[in-house]
Amino acid sequence: MKTAEEIKSIKNREKIAVLTCYDYFTAKILDSVGMDIILVGDSLANVILGYETTRDVTMNEMKIFTEAVARGAKNSFIVGDMPYLSDRNKEEAVKNANIFVQSGANAVKVEGNKEEIIRAIIKEGIPVMGHLGLLPQTAKKFEMQGKDKEAADKLVKDAKALESYGCFCIVLECVVPELAKRITEIVKMPTIGIGSGKDCDGQVLVINDILGLCEKSPSFAKKYTDLGKEIKKAVENYINDVKESNF
Ligand code: KIV
Repeated sequence: MKTAEEIKSIKNREKIAVLTCYDYFTAKILDSVGMDIILVGDSLANVILGYETTRDVTMNEMKIFTEAVARGAKNSFIVGDMPYLSDRNKEEAVKNANIFVQSGANAVKVEGNKEEIIRAIIKEGIPVMGHLGLLPQTAKKFEMQGKDKEAADKLVKDAKALESYGCFCIVLECVVPELAKRITEIVKMPTIGIGSGKDCDGQVLVINDILGLCEKSPSFAKKYTDLGKEIKKAVENYINDVKESNF
């Protein structure tokens, strides 16, 4: 298994593949094909638990899914996503980051430029993945980020700040592609884009979006298969077999 430092050193060598994952069996598959990083994202609130927003998932729930993923993935680097309010203050953040590590995560992800929180977690010896751009836990509007000069300059400043706190990499969500490219060139840590163009050092997507296991997926998420359709077909066949005593 790679360390955070090794993940960091991949920058400029090859692109970094990151995918969300929430369960044991899928984690085993991702691990077997060499996924660089598995993110147990708080997106599980929407795609697994059917909640309205990512704010609805609790630390207890994140713990259960992280443990399941860790049972399946023995080589991939696992990042646990700090859910809404789990980092409301330094003490809570450190306590919850430790729960992620005890559950099998190798690092945690923190949304936003939260200096005190990020520094405290890193001081505890737990690597932190930063997250800038669109921040689903607090966003009022889901739109591209960094469109004007002021917003772009702020994002560059925040990215440099996250690097100075010691983040080993940073997610750039829905950042204007030219700006994501600029940030990628400025910082030494890898940038992992989602909806931020192809010039980041890697990409993260929600696994349900690429497998067709969701109601609607964002336009930037390429669908690699349509498991939703396949499952429907298989289950319809199963029902027919049972109805016809074909078992
Ligand atoms: O929760 C999540 O899935 C995420 C990524 C998409 C970046 O935060």
